[in-house]
Amino acid sequence: MEVVTHIEEVREAVADARAEGLTVGLVPTMGALHEGHLSLIRRAVAETGSTVVSNYVNPTQFAPGEDFDRYPRDLEADNALCREAGVALVFAPRTEELYAPGHATWVEVAGLSDILEGRSRPGHFRGVATVVAKLFNIVEPDVAYFGRKDAQQLTLVRWMVRDLCLPVRIVEMPIVRDADGLALSSRNRYLTLEERGDALCLVHALRLAEDLVAAGTVDAAAVTERMRRVVAAVPSATLDYIAVVDPETFLARRQVTAPTLIALAVTIGTTHLIDNTVVTAPGADAA
Ligand code: PAJ
Repeated sequence: MEVVTHIEEVREAVADARAEGLTVGLVPTMGALHEGHLSLIRRAVAETGSTVVSNYVNPTQFAPGEDFDRYPRDLEADNALCREAGVALVFAPRTEELYAPGHATWVEVAGLSDILEGRSRPGHFRGVATVVAKLFNIVEPDVAYFGRKDAQQLTLVRWMVRDLCLPVRIVEMPIVRDADGLALSSRNRYLTLEERGDALCLVHALRLAEDLVAAGTVDAAAVTERMRRVVAAVPSATLDYIAVVDPETFLARRQVTAPTLIALAVTIGTTHLIDNTVVTAPGADAA
């Protein structure tokens, strides 16, 4: 496995792989790899001839005052995991090269960037779309892998690929969870033992929503209110938003009568956590 920091080195390695007739897969990450990332990486290794993992804590997707400085970084441990998983190339660029002086071009996905996660984190999705576009242009992968854990990000990437006619196929992977249900996240490392317990309110609220819908409650406001109460019962938890939306358009749904994305964001202490599920009312037309 090669570990490179320069764009030219990526282009050369990918050209070599292509010359051998291999397909190229890309898994963009910010490192601090866990089983969620590894599920994407393993799928990429299984499906493509040459897997590239990018490992870069992208400063432009952190809003002022967010956790950019303390975001966990452990390139050595990440590289060992990538090597073990059969990755061909790790790209860990430096900011001076990815955002060279004079950098002036941004990718903005209108409509999706300023709602929900985008409203809580101004500028976040502009940073995500821009860095993912750069990575696609540097690696030129056939396939790129994203997790449903970041549902809005996944939709943003799909829209960007569609709107800019980017020649890459997007594969999405299910949310990987700890045994007790907490969605894996690099940010879980910030939680104290007590907060780790409190963080379960996200998955408890989602499971309640799933149960309510399965039992016939299709009114989005009623589902939201019951979820809100689950979060409100936890003193260290501050509810950021609960969204009941069409998974493709992100438009709010009043009724859960087709596959519906229920997403929420909660701050536990000072740690911003997100989770989501897709539900369909029993007997609803799944089309
Ligand atoms: P990061 O948070 O490191 O996540 C990298 C990828 O792993 C994303 O596609 C994310 O959805 C996926 N992932 C994270 N936790 C997961 C889990 N528990 N189950 C399944 N997949 C999971 O998302 C980013 O980095 C950045 O925004 C990035 C796209 C790299 C751009 O900087």
